[in-house]
Amino acid sequence: MGPLKDLLAKNKEWADKIKNDDPAFFTKLSKQQHPEYLWIGCSDSRVPANQIVGLLPGEIFVHRNIANMVVHTDLNCLSVMQFAVEVLKVRHIIVCGHYGCGGIKAALERKENGLIDNWLRHIKDVYRFHQAALDTEKDRLKRCDLLCELNIIEQVANVCHTTIVQNAWKNGQSLAIHGWVYSIEDGVLKDLEVTATGSSDISKIHRFK
Ligand code: CO
Repeated sequence: MGPLKDLLAKNKEWADKIKNDDPAFFTKLSKQQHPEYLWIGCSDSRVPANQIVGLLPGEIFVHRNIANMVVHTDLNCLSVMQFAVEVLKVRHIIVCGHYGCGGIKAALERKENGLIDNWLRHIKDVYRFHQAALDTEKDRLKRCDLLCELNIIEQVANVCHTTIVQNAWKNGQSLAIHGWVYSIEDGVLKDLEVTATGSSDISKIHRFK
C-alpha cells in the first residue's frame, strides 16, 4: 500500500496557502490556543466542525464520536470538556448532531451489531424517554430526524448536568451550551433553541446545591 502521497501533497498545498495569506500564522498558533468554542459533534465524515462554521485552526476545540453523545461515564468526552472549560475557558459548548445520522438509524433498528450496541443503547434510552412523541410519527425518515433532534437536546442536558459545567456557572464563568442540527443535504445548520446559560436552565434533580 502506498504512503498516501496525495494526502501529504494536499497538506503541503494547504499549509503553503495559509502561510501565503499570513506568514506568521503557524508561529503564532504554536505558542498558544484561545478557542472560544467547544464542539461536540458526530464522527460522520460529512460533518467536519471547522469547515462548516468557517473557522481556522485554533478557533474551535473539538470532540467527536458516533452520534455526538455525552455519556456520563465517558472519560474521553469529560476530559475534553474539563480542559475546554477549566483551562481554555471556552464561552460556548455546541452539541451538533445531524439529520440522517447513521448512529441514530442503527439505534432505531433492532439488529445486533456487536460492540457498538453498547454505545447505541444510550440512544435507545433517549428513544425511551420520548417514546410517546416518536411512536406518533409514522414516517420512518421523519421519526429518525426527530430522534436526531431529541438526542441533541438530551446531550445538551447531559453537558449541563456535569460538575464541570455546574461549577463553571457557580464560579460566575460565562458559559452557554447550545444544541444545533446540521443538514447534510444542504450544508445548513439550525439552532434548536435550547441554549442553557445557568443552573436555572436544568431540571431540579440534577442541580447541585
Ligand atoms: Co452521525
